[in-house]
Amino acid sequence: MFVGAQAGRNYPAPVSAIKAMQEGAKLGRDDAQKIEANTFIKLAQTSAARNLVGLFLSDQYIAKKSKHWEKQAELPVKRTAVLGAGIMGGGIAYQSASRGVPIKMKDINQKGIDQGLAEAAKLMTKRVESGKATAASMAEILNRIEPALTYDGFAEVDLVVEAVVENPAVKKVVLAEVESTVKPATILCSNTSTISIDALAENLARPENFCGMHFFNPVHAMPLVEIIRGKKTSDQAIARTVAYANALGKKPVVVNNCPGFLVNRVLFPYFAGFSMLLRDGADFQAVDKVMERWGWPMGPAYLLDVVGLDTAVHAQGVMAEGFPQRMVKTFKPAPDVLYEAGRLGQKNGLGFYNYEKDKKGKPVKVPTRDSYDLLASHVAPAKEFSDDEIIARMMIPLATELVRCLEEQIVASPAEADMALIYGLGFPPFRGGVFRWIDEQGLNRFIVSALPFADLSPLYQVTEDMQQRAKEGKTYY
Ligand SMILES: NC(=O)c1ccc[n+]([C@@H]2O[C@H](COP(=O)([O-])OP(=O)(O)OC[C@H]3O[C@@H](n4cnc5c(N)ncnc54)[C@H](O)[C@@H]3O)[C@@H](O)[C@H]2O)c1
Repeated sequence: MFVGAQAGRNYPAPVSAIKAMQEGAKLGRDDAQKIEANTFIKLAQTSAARNLVGLFLSDQYIAKKSKHWEKQAELPVKRTAVLGAGIMGGGIAYQSASRGVPIKMKDINQKGIDQGLAEAAKLMTKRVESGKATAASMAEILNRIEPALTYDGFAEVDLVVEAVVENPAVKKVVLAEVESTVKPATILCSNTSTISIDALAENLARPENFCGMHFFNPVHAMPLVEIIRGKKTSDQAIARTVAYANALGKKPVVVNNCPGFLVNRVLFPYFAGFSMLLRDGADFQAVDKVMERWGWPMGPAYLLDVVGLDTAVHAQGVMAEGFPQRMVKTFKPAPDVLYEAGRLGQKNGLGFYNYEKDKKGKPVKVPTRDSYDLLASHVAPAKEFSDDEIIARMMIPLATELVRCLEEQIVASPAEADMALIYGLGFPPFRGGVFRWIDEQGLNRFIVSALPFADLSPLYQVTEDMQQRAKEGKTYY
């Protein structure tokens, strides 16, 4: 039971292995081996096995690509800096220091620095408590973070990650400022989640040395780093930034610049699918349950609370500006209603759910009538949706937008796109990725499943290339 609970309903192998051992233990060697062989044959034929093998190959593919980039780096990345010691800056500083790369952490005020250092110390303390690190190594690691209120010593830095507030005007000033203090070969990166890399490069004297380096929150736990190439970004800038991401133990995926880059560009159509479901009378808790059973680590309402409803509303605006034909709001979506009522999600304990702290201080979600009451005048009367309809209405916008990203060469291959969503969003690994999911059901079937929703929004309209591929019987892998 314990193993079954750990593995979850979508991963049959661990429980089957234990059952085979239990049965085999009562038998002689030959009979036990037969049971083992039969169990293996059955498991090897499951779609989970096929998808996980595919995922292993895709993982090797992205590792090979990032090694290839790293080899092209003509200069090493030995000393780095992060601007902004907030949630992300503190996390990046910790990750760099714990991987042996010294990092300066600059903020405009001491309070920010103290918070960044406290965050790094908290993460290290957890490692010491769990026996994964010693007190001595903790001190050594924390010493690699050099707090700074000025740009003193920035002339020695090989790469800078900008992680200040998400405001284009502030970021442009900060990037121009730091560019004037570093040596000409230093690479500048921005950890922006939404702002165009080309727009941020406008004020720079050396835009070829600039790219996006988009980490995911929490930095130490999320493997993906999107490396975003702007129009003027050089291969050297990409090669050295990928080398740094590799040194941090991350999984870099290089993408081209566009609003939302790759991961947020496909996440917001998924959230739009969610808002349309709620508008039409679906219960957000029911949607969360269905999508969690489908394999996502958290349902969309819970995920929006974790992301922050303020952040989500802001980012949705950026996406609508970037892709007005598909992403402009045509009604008031649930995240906007809750945000306007002061519900920011997990950060203030009030979102779709309420959040209470458990004994360890971790936030635990608790259903509340309050969010239902707030939403009531903006949504249709409660209506039951089948699991299949919920899944289709959530997944088709995400999958179709991901296909668009491939067609527009924002991402270079289905393997990189699939790994980015698995490492950046926690897309269910046993499904092997979005492109494998489409291939598995067949593109024809996917297109047919989108047809009933075509009038809901252009997000449900598949591309011409998809239709052509379906006619030709082509797969993505
Ligand atoms: N929080 C997330 O989940 C997340 C995920 C990925 C990317 N990002 C992006 O990372 C960036 C930082 O986000 P955050 O959540 O860490 O924000 P935050 O508000 O926690 O931290 C921002 C920090 O920047 C500092 N700062 C402001 N102006 C500065 C300046 N001129 N020089 C140096 N420091 C300055 C502030 O004092 C603050 O400590 C944003 O661009 C955000 O979009 C955030």
